[in-house]
Amino acid sequence: MKLSRSAGLHGTVTVPGDKSVSHRALLLGALSEGTTHIHGFLSSADCLSTLRCLSQMGVSIRREGSEVTVVGVGLRGLKAPRKPLDAGNSGTTMRLLSGILAGQDFPVTIGGDASLSRRPMKRIMAPLAAMGCDITSQKGNDCAPLVIRGGKLHGISWKTPVASAQVKSAILLAGLFADGPTTVTEPALSRDHTERMLSACGVSVSQEGTSVTIQPAASLQPQDITVPGDISSAAYFLAAGLLVPGSDILIKNVGINPTRAGILQVAERMGADLTVESFTLAGGEPVADIRVRTSALHATEVGGAEIPTLIDELPVIALMAACAEGTTVIRDAAELRVKESDRIAVLAEGLSRLGARVTATEDGFIIEGGKPLKGAVVNSYGDHRAAMTFAVAGLVAGIRETQILDAQCVNISYPSFFDDLHALEVSKEQ
Ligand code: S3P
Repeated sequence: MKLSRSAGLHGTVTVPGDKSVSHRALLLGALSEGTTHIHGFLSSADCLSTLRCLSQMGVSIRREGSEVTVVGVGLRGLKAPRKPLDAGNSGTTMRLLSGILAGQDFPVTIGGDASLSRRPMKRIMAPLAAMGCDITSQKGNDCAPLVIRGGKLHGISWKTPVASAQVKSAILLAGLFADGPTTVTEPALSRDHTERMLSACGVSVSQEGTSVTIQPAASLQPQDITVPGDISSAAYFLAAGLLVPGSDILIKNVGINPTRAGILQVAERMGADLTVESFTLAGGEPVADIRVRTSALHATEVGGAEIPTLIDELPVIALMAACAEGTTVIRDAAELRVKESDRIAVLAEGLSRLGARVTATEDGFIIEGGKPLKGAVVNSYGDHRAAMTFAVAGLVAGIRETQILDAQCVNISYPSFFDDLHALEVSKEQ
């Protein structure tokens, strides 16, 4: 994929459905007693991995574009799959499904692609084992493939060292099947979509500080779920609107759940001209439109409890920092090293090739902003969020084109990304 400097972005864009909410709608729909209707489902590779795994276990799912119907089989109605399950590139599929499989009475193997097979799974294996599940790493390296022999589970109180919604959700979903309440305590609050959706399904879930407690459930009530637009996808348009000179765009229907919307505060701190308007609710989640205009950004510091609220946006925030006046420090984000790629290494390499002054640290970046970007060949290493960040950089960078290697990986979360981005472009500079 090749991109060149843009003369400005104008118009309206509606981003596709939220990836995290789409996964959860399928999973909870499958476990419900009756039919779940999902509107605005994200038909991307990751969510289709969850869909296929559930189909392999006997769940009937009909999909027409972004409209999906799931015929739930109840908490104990999943069937043993004939073949190992394949979570593809999707950490959410692997970790959340493992929590559900821990409560089933059949053995399952679940694997994934090369990237997912390198990502840490001890973080879910340890709590699920403490609940009574027999869960092992097939290669003995605490990574996928995982072999899960579920059964009777006990409620636990678990303190996780990382703020991770995937870990929290795996434990809470296993807690549905436990013999007593299950509590998860995180160092900082991670996204709470699982808790919101479980409550809507009639499960008792309570929050106290950074601890959440679930009571075991007899059944889940099916829902009609409207998936909000994904703020993690909107983030690329937000950044592009701020950074490309002469831009003014409206991003419609964006989920602004406070556990996800940290990028809005960071952008405001950096001096962004943005307004959040037309507030509504969709699927128990707050939603709004975001208007953004070209802005002269300045440096900021990003760290602490803010990190989980913008973890997937840090690549594009690093790009914003590279184009801002002053030195930005991003810290407490070591989790970036165990995402779909080592995002600290991949972003430091790509942004440096584009002419930015970026130093990778153990847990983030130090970025001296303000140096004009120049087009280059950059490698996404198959990481969708790196590819989309470099695409935005390509619209800003001068002198020559930017070429992104492995750009088709945007299919993981946003198959129509390049079309939607180009649709906002006004005539190109010569
Ligand atoms: C997700 C949680 C986050 C995020 C991922 C989706 C989820 O991962 O990075 O893209 O849907 O729960 P962690 O829980 O590992 O932080």
